[in-house]
Amino acid sequence: MLSVVVLISGSGSNLLALLKAAENPLYPVKVVAVGSDKDAPGLEHAELFEVDTFIVEPSRFQDKEQWAKTLLANVLHHQPDLVVLAGFMKILPESFVKAFEGKLINTHPSLLPDFKGAHAVRDALQAGAKKTGVTIHYVDAGVDTGPVIVQQELTINEGESESELHERIKVIERALLVETIEKLALAKSAQEGN
Ligand code: GRF
Repeated sequence: MLSVVVLISGSGSNLLALLKAAENPLYPVKVVAVGSDKDAPGLEHAELFEVDTFIVEPSRFQDKEQWAKTLLANVLHHQPDLVVLAGFMKILPESFVKAFEGKLINTHPSLLPDFKGAHAVRDALQAGAKKTGVTIHYVDAGVDTGPVIVQQELTINEGESESELHERIKVIERALLVETIEKLALAKSAQEGN
């Protein structure tokens, strides 16, 4: 069983997909806690599934390092095998990233390295891209630069709005995230000879 802490900042639909998948006893993943940088609406999903939550707000700290230290302590408390950034909109400093090297993944709504950053869907539309997609990748010290685990492409429809496109991306993203975390769990247990 792979224990996972999920960090979110928004509606948490990716988190919800994972929580629903983990209801199946054959799914080898357990969400042990959900954290956020604010009182995000998605935390309600965790509460509904009786999963621990924590909020660590940057505004309560002197600087980013202090914030990240407290966030790290909260995550470590749950001893996760994997930390999943699912719509977590804060950039984590190197100290945090280093603590979870190879155990920290992010889901991003574009085909990286195209359209890094917080406005990937808008940027793809503004650039007139014909295709975009989803990337799930390991997190390194850069922003959306870590090694890619998996990508899935999608064709942008003529005249599609940012919210329409993002919703279609998220349909793919949720399924890909659930599938990818399952693969990571199976790979870990194969490695451990279970
Ligand atoms: C996802 O598309 C994620 O890749 C992006 O923000 C969105 C979060 O969606 N960074 P949700 O909160 O999981 O619904």
